[in-house]
Amino acid sequence: MKVAVLGAAGGIGQALALLLKLQLPAGSSLALYDIAPVTPGVAVDVSHIPTAVKAIGYAGEDPTPALEGTNLVLISAGVARKPGMDRSDLFNINAGIVRNLIEKVATVCPTACVGIITNPVNTTVAIAAEVLKKAGVYDKRKLFGVTSLDVLRSETFVAELKGKDVSRVKVPVIGGHSGVTILPLLSQAHEEDKLDFTAEEVEALTKRIQNAGTEVVEAKAGGGSATLSMAQAAARFANSVLKGLTGEKVVEYAYVEGNGEYARFFAQPVVLGLNGVEELLPIGEISTYEEAAIQGMIPTLKADIELGEKFVNG
Ligand SMILES: NC(=O)c1ccc[n+]([C@@H]2O[C@H](COP(=O)([O-])OP(=O)(O)OC[C@H]3O[C@@H](n4cnc5c(N)ncnc54)[C@H](O)[C@@H]3O)[C@@H](O)[C@H]2O)c1
Repeated sequence: MKVAVLGAAGGIGQALALLLKLQLPAGSSLALYDIAPVTPGVAVDVSHIPTAVKAIGYAGEDPTPALEGTNLVLISAGVARKPGMDRSDLFNINAGIVRNLIEKVATVCPTACVGIITNPVNTTVAIAAEVLKKAGVYDKRKLFGVTSLDVLRSETFVAELKGKDVSRVKVPVIGGHSGVTILPLLSQAHEEDKLDFTAEEVEALTKRIQNAGTEVVEAKAGGGSATLSMAQAAARFANSVLKGLTGEKVVEYAYVEGNGEYARFFAQPVVLGLNGVEELLPIGEISTYEEAAIQGMIPTLKADIELGEKFVNG
């Protein structure tokens, strides 16, 4: 299996390169691409770690050599937030970067699975879908917005609050990947048994999870947004996709084009398999608070998606 990271010299990219070098199955290869000239050096650096994963770096304007023969492309290329910025403020720069990179994916590795990390994810995934569609190679089972950081954060915060073993806490997170569109389903949170929350806890935890990215942006005080936790979330996602591609069935939460019940793209539980998304799983029973939160997020999510569609189709 070959994994390509586009944006590999960035804060997420470098940490992700390290984690993939350590975690990918033996025999895999890792292509690290970025416009930054340091990128081949990042690959040389990680290649000195003794694991059976081969890392090669590529810099410059053309990602083609990095994409050749790739099974999974992870895109974190673009700019990150600074304090006071919303994810949508990144649209002007990142939309064009994602469009150009996906155009290359469409010609060089059109059957690869693609995980988009670059924000605003709600919109960049729609851009990617429309570019792939225009090129006649769109397979909705293979395009993902990477929202697994929202799941990691929810597990961590719930375990902290309830004094539980974080490795066994599970919290579904659905919707999108910004502000009110991030919805942890606390009514389904469980360790071994279901966890109970007061209405105040639900309100506070939901807000904290929705604003967790901003918590990092503010703590880094102008130095960027989440990179290390994001890299771990992306590595977990990548390993699940690869397991699927090699025949194992794995459940993950990701922002995908589903059945359109709420919006064209929606973060939800999916079964990953040989062709990417094998099955969309039901969201399950939710509380009245969560049902209202879904209804409340839909206009934002739909507008975010439309922005991406219009960016490509005019
Ligand atoms: N999905 C999520 O949960 C999540 C979480 C955190 C951050 N993000 C997003 O991930 C993105 C990257 O964040 P970061 O902290 O790594 O930023 P960063 O600025 O540290 O790195 C971005 C990298 O992209 C590279 N780049 C820019 N244009 C490129 C192009 N055309 N081709 C290849 N590489 C290019 C830059 O050279 C840089 O190395 C941001 O958009 C950020 O908002 C997403």
